[in-house]
Amino acid sequence: MANTTHTVPAGPLEVDPAWLRFLNPSEPIDTRMGVDTMLSRTGRELSFGASYPSKRLDIIHHIYLLLLDGKLFRAPVRDDIQRILDVGTGTGIWAIDVAESFPTAEVVGTDLSPIQPSWVPPNVSFQIDDAESVWTFSRDSFDLIHIRHLNGGIKDWGKLIGQAFTALKPGGWIDIAEYEFILKSDDGTLSPESNLAKYYRLVNEAADKLGQEFKIASSLDRFILDAGFDKVHHEETKIPLGTWPAEKKQKEMGAFLLLTTENAFEAFGMALLTRSLGMGIPEVEELITAAKRESRSKKTHTYSSQHLYYAQKPFKKADPE
Ligand SMILES: C[S@@+](CC[C@H](N)C(=O)[O-])C[C@H]1O[C@@H](n2cnc3c(N)ncnc32)[C@H](O)[C@@H]1O
Repeated sequence: MANTTHTVPAGPLEVDPAWLRFLNPSEPIDTRMGVDTMLSRTGRELSFGASYPSKRLDIIHHIYLLLLDGKLFRAPVRDDIQRILDVGTGTGIWAIDVAESFPTAEVVGTDLSPIQPSWVPPNVSFQIDDAESVWTFSRDSFDLIHIRHLNGGIKDWGKLIGQAFTALKPGGWIDIAEYEFILKSDDGTLSPESNLAKYYRLVNEAADKLGQEFKIASSLDRFILDAGFDKVHHEETKIPLGTWPAEKKQKEMGAFLLLTTENAFEAFGMALLTRSLGMGIPEVEELITAAKRESRSKKTHTYSSQHLYYAQKPFKKADPE
């Protein structure tokens, strides 16, 4: 069954209370642990790893399902694909879903952190692996390689995409979904003077200072082309922040993004702003509180851009298309 459409809970327009209970907003996030994990591996690693609460990754998966109208990816793969790789699989939720959609395929998920469940469909396996080291997968062995939401965790995108090219079979597809950590509004309702805009600006500044940029999502085409892929497809879509849109799907995505963002403000910002920019904890707390308040306002029509790519490894001359 190819790229099955998943049913997402219909729910009301605002976030379903069941999701709120699932998320448990009263549960504190251990920001110190997050950042120690983020910074310890190479001294400038910004991946969230195991400290990024798994529940939030699952909500992000839900937002992607809404965005892709229930599909798991966009690459036009054949129905009979045999091997799928999910790089930086997180909780493995995508890998598990894709394994259920393609029950005869073998699905491998890799991650730095062992946060995947052990009860999974028989055709899924997980490996602890750094996607930035030299891959040990055989050449020409996957039909589909999926990369999602690794922004901030990858230093060398050219190398990552090049290794994916090598591991794909001729005719295989890469499918990438990455977000820009930039908040925008098309109607001027996000003032550059606002705390919300300031928060995003400072987090980017802090990340740049650590040599890791969060804004790569829009410019992955060049790495995909350089690797040798064909039929490169790139689409920019918007995910609203908050419940300001009138349209139902947009409003629902915005509600879920707000839910995850609210809880990520400290996890993302506190350590970066204190350690990289030398800001004081009370100053950052004040900024975060004000930014959170502003993010809830329906008068601020903000969104972030999501970049969706897919591309095909060319067939060898004698291969059938
Ligand atoms: C924001 S989560 C996204 C998870 C998953 N791709 C998804 O969309 O649900 C990022 C994940 O990438 C993993 N990660 C970051 N850098 C990595 C690397 N170099 N190699 C393997 N995994 C990495 C983190 O451990 C984390 O689980």
